[in-house]
Amino acid sequence: MGSADGGELDRLLEEQVTYYRSLAPDYLDRGLDLPGGQELTEALEAFRPTGSVLELACGPGTWTRQLLRHAADVTAVDASPEMLAIAAARMSDHRVRFIQADLFTWMPDRRYDVVFIGFWLSHVPLERFESFWAMVAGCLEDDGRVFFADDAYRTPDELIEGPSSAVIRRRLDDGTSYRIVKVPHRPADLHERLRRLGWNIAVTATSGPFYWGAGGRDSVHQAQH
Ligand SMILES: C[S@@+](CC[C@H](N)C(=O)[O-])C[C@H]1O[C@@H](n2cnc3c(N)ncnc32)[C@H](O)[C@@H]1O
Repeated sequence: MGSADGGELDRLLEEQVTYYRSLAPDYLDRGLDLPGGQELTEALEAFRPTGSVLELACGPGTWTRQLLRHAADVTAVDASPEMLAIAAARMSDHRVRFIQADLFTWMPDRRYDVVFIGFWLSHVPLERFESFWAMVAGCLEDDGRVFFADDAYRTPDELIEGPSSAVIRRRLDDGTSYRIVKVPHRPADLHERLRRLGWNIAVTATSGPFYWGAGGRDSVHQAQH
């Protein structure tokens, strides 16, 4: 990945949190207005995230309202108190519980029917990919389901370490810049990477830079290719 390991990786992940904490007030105005976004919404609608849903890296609650169309309850986790405050202000629903936590160390206190991951997987460095998915497994009921949506969109000026590195630079409107992780997963490779970890998750490309995945543990879910 040409990035970092050990303490350097921890520092990069802290910088990533700082970036999103600073971006929180402007985050909802900065959505990627590119083809394919509506396809994600439709795919999540078809998936029907029913039961108790865990939303990882919820941000300002971008997806929480759609999840609540199907879910009995939603537990939404994010590291940024600023993001969580915005999410809480937008969502006055007693079925939502917010938790502030670092997903690289957080341990769930119960299991869920569905884990939903919106635009977070690409920010998980490959060095932490396996441990992240072990955590997801620990969050799920045996027959639990997973849905994720994400993109592989990186602009040339962001690629400070070149296109083969997952480390990029993002700038805020005030000119401050931060290093963050943005892994440009390709759907087929991501499906295979997950399969090697015991997941059966069909990963589907949209007509734009977005993709979505739906499935669960290999033993209970059949690929939907
Ligand atoms: C790209 S945003 C996604 C937000 C929302 N899910 C969406 O789809 O719009 C990434 C989110 O991850 C959160 N985040 C960054 N590092 C984190 C960490 N280590 N643990 C938990 N959340 C983190 C940020 O605060 C931010 O809300």
